[in-house]
This record gives sequence, C-alpha cells and structure tokens, in this order.
Amino acid sequence: MHTQAQTDTSDVSVKDTGKNTRKVFVKTYGCQMNVYDSERMADALASDGYRVTDNPEEADLLLLNTCHIREKAAEKVYSELGRIRQLKESRTANGGDLMVGVAGCVAQAEGQEIIRRAPVVDLVIGPQTYHRLPEALARVRGGEKVVETEYAIEDKFEHLPEPEKKVIASRGVTAFLTVQEGCDKFCTFCVVPYTRGSEVSRPVEQIVREAENLVSAGVREITLLGQNVNAWHGEGSDGREWGLGALLRRLSEIDGLARLRYTTSHPRDMDEALIEAHRDLAKLMPYLHLPVQAGSDSVLKAMNRRHTADDYLRLVDRIRAARPDIALSGDFIVGFPGESDADFEATLQLVDKVRYAQAFSFKYSPRPGTPGADLGEQVPEDVKSQRLERLQALLRKHQSEFAESCVGRQIDLLLEKPGRLPGQLIGRSPWLQPVIVDANPSQIGEIIPVRITQAGTNSLFAEKVQGESGSSTI
Ligand code: 5AD
Ligand code: SF4
Repeated sequence: MHTQAQTDTSDVSVKDTGKNTRKVFVKTYGCQMNVYDSERMADALASDGYRVTDNPEEADLLLLNTCHIREKAAEKVYSELGRIRQLKESRTANGGDLMVGVAGCVAQAEGQEIIRRAPVVDLVIGPQTYHRLPEALARVRGGEKVVETEYAIEDKFEHLPEPEKKVIASRGVTAFLTVQEGCDKFCTFCVVPYTRGSEVSRPVEQIVREAENLVSAGVREITLLGQNVNAWHGEGSDGREWGLGALLRRLSEIDGLARLRYTTSHPRDMDEALIEAHRDLAKLMPYLHLPVQAGSDSVLKAMNRRHTADDYLRLVDRIRAARPDIALSGDFIVGFPGESDADFEATLQLVDKVRYAQAFSFKYSPRPGTPGADLGEQVPEDVKSQRLERLQALLRKHQSEFAESCVGRQIDLLLEKPGRLPGQLIGRSPWLQPVIVDANPSQIGEIIPVRITQAGTNSLFAEKVQGESGSSTI
C-alpha cells in the first residue's frame, strides 16, 4: 500500500543564503515517501556542495521528484518540464546554465522516454539510486545525458549521508522515516510494485540509529513510512526477524521521542503483535490509515486485494477492541473495471459501518503495465465522477462528525509551527487533525493540554487548558 494522502506538491525547505554554493530546487509530487526522499536527496547533494533554495530562478539544479500513481500525477511532470524548458532557454541565452533532473516514480517507470519527450532533462534517476546523485551529476557536467534506473546492489540507506542536526531541526519537530520500500501485493490497479520494486525492509539497528539522530536534533514525532509498511519484517537487534509491532515497541523506548505513527498499511498484514502495540504503547498515536479501496467482494477480488469486505470489518472490530479511541483513515477507488451500481453501493455501506475520520478517494485511472488497464468493462468517466461525488459527500459527513465529536474534549497537542495569524501556532491532535491555538513560538515542539473549542472545515480550534503547567515532554 502506498504512503498516502497524496499531498499537493511541496518544496523541500532547507534554505541557504550563502553566495558561492551550488543551489538545488527540489519539487516534490505525491506521497510522504517522496517528501522523505526529497530530503534524503538534499542530504546527498549537501555533500556535493549543494544547498536547497526555494526559488527556482536562482537554482543551478532543478529536481522534480515525481509520482506515477495516477495519470494526472504523471502528466503534471511533463507540463512542469515545459515551463522549465523556457527557464533553461532564457538562462542559456544569458550565458548561464541549468541542470534538470527527474527523480521518483515517473523516472523509474519511463526512464529514457522522459528525455525523448522532454530533451530539457539532463538526468533521470530512480528511487533506488539517490545515493549516487553526486556521481550522476558529475557525468552530466561532463556532457552526458544520464539515465540511472537500475536497482542498486548496494544498500542506498547505508550510503545516504546523515543530515546535520541543524538541517533536521529546520525541517520541523515531526519527521518521516522510511523503514520499508516496495510492495509484493500486486493490487491490479497499482503501479507501485513496478516502480518501487519488491518489498525491502531496513534492519532495526539502522532504523533506530536514524530515529535517535532525528530525536537528538529535536524531532518529537516520527512517522514510519513504507509502501506497505506493516509488511515490514526486518532483522531485529537479536538477529531474528521482527515484525512492525516489535519495531514500534523498540522505538517507543527512545527517550525524548513522544509520538509514533506509521503509514500505509494493508489489511492482510495487520497482525496480532501490531494490534497489541496499539493497545500497549502510549506513544503510538490512535490513528491508522488502513485502505480498503472498495466494499464489494467481487471488486476486491478483481483488485487482487485478497480479503473480503467482511474480513476487513472484522479486522476493524479487533483493532477498535484493542484501542477504542483509534481513528481510521482510508483510501478508495471508484469505477474500477466491472464495478456495477450494486458494487458501488457496497462501498457506501462499508463506509457507513466504519465511519472514517479521514479518507482519500479517487477515480480509477488505468495505469500502463498493470493488469487493471487491460480489463474489459472500463467504467465511463461520467459514472466515475458521479460515484466519486456521492462517496466523497458521505466521507466528508463522517469526517466532520468526527471533528464535531472532538469539541469540548481535552487533548494533548504537539505544537508544530506558526499559524497564519500572529500569536497562533498549529499543532496536531493524536488523530492527526491540524489544531490552531494561541501559543508562543518558543513552545514549538512541546506537547500541551488544550480544550477543543470549535471544528472548522479542515482544522480544529483550541484553547490552552487553564491551571495546568501547559508543558509536558511526553
Ligand atoms: N487509480 C486510482 N487510484 C489509485 N490508487 C492507486 N492506484 C490507483 C489507480 N490506478 C489509489 C489507491 C491507493 C492510493 C494511494 O491511490 O487508493 O491506496
Ligand atoms: Fe498498496 Fe496494493 Fe499498490 Fe502494494 S500494490 S502499494 S498494497 S495499493
């Protein structure tokens, strides 16, 4: 499963004001793993003298970290490359230069084809070789067009440099940490098994080292990432194979780390040890992204999800029995080939039973090379649009009911960053909702008790709880 909420594009944000360094602008599309990867690419480039800029006009290198999950996401890259061509032309007309790289899942899936379609591109680099970026750029400087999409034999994580503490601190008090990459599930709609390859789990010691480094630089909350994160099965500190539940237990022992999350999970890999971790670990936040995609058994079968709607509902019951306050989040696809009106109704019924606190839903987008793309009975676009609208209305209703149910409650809030108005900070509730509160910027990184006063469309409002110290470290 992917790491998603597919977010809007975002720019890596470690800025530099130095004059004589090389500058890289990284634009990130898609999922949280791409956000993490962009930071790691910035770390690799730092050792090559690059500093990150948020201004493409002053960059020597533009890197697009791309997403291939749906057609729209992939096409965005080519329209961006059109704009970049103009930038490069005006730069070279003025005697300057600009290198352009495409990374991420479009790079992996399309390779050489990208340079054919967009000759402005100098470098195409797949996710498994980011540690080789400096070497690849040296070849570009030597006049080559470089396509680097082979899977590396060496462990990229062993070769990616650790970021400096001040760089980590500049990225905020929450951080992503990839523990697992790739997917062996082969859902028939999904490109991930092809773009990210088969499942690879990082060993416990490597993960703990990275987590400790983050925490020592001020990170309070870590979200473990994997395309199918709960399939993680890495070598443990005792030399045996561990599952994600055991890894979370180990990470929760790190002093100063206050909160743990993980995303994204497949229902079939939700084992007992992981459910028990939700019961036992105070640091593991009561939030779980557990996509089901559809509510009809025949669609689930055609999607190769290898579970029924009822299996999923029983799993949800077990998780809720272990952690009654857990909020569930999901992903849905409408209009998968062969989905009938009755199949779609089954999705609505499942949604009604689960009542998701948060959800992401999409129209099916046939992806080249996946089995779904070759199925007959593709659903017409207008039917997909109508279904999506109905589904989203129901999901929105549940989401706002969940938000309303928080009003009046006292919760712990991790203060993350300044809000839009002076005097405001934005934090996250245990259930991942953005919460706005009046607080001092010096409190960023603290977890404070607040009372929720109001539910807005996308965020909650809160006030500090009077008479309490207002500061706890866990
Ligand atoms: N079409 C539409 N949505 C898709 N997703 C993955 N592949 C496709 C596709 N071909 C959705 C799934 C997944 C989320 C990240 O994106 O719901 O969980
Ligand atoms: Fe997730 Fe299925 Fe895609 Fe794997 S194949 S990443 S489980 S949607």
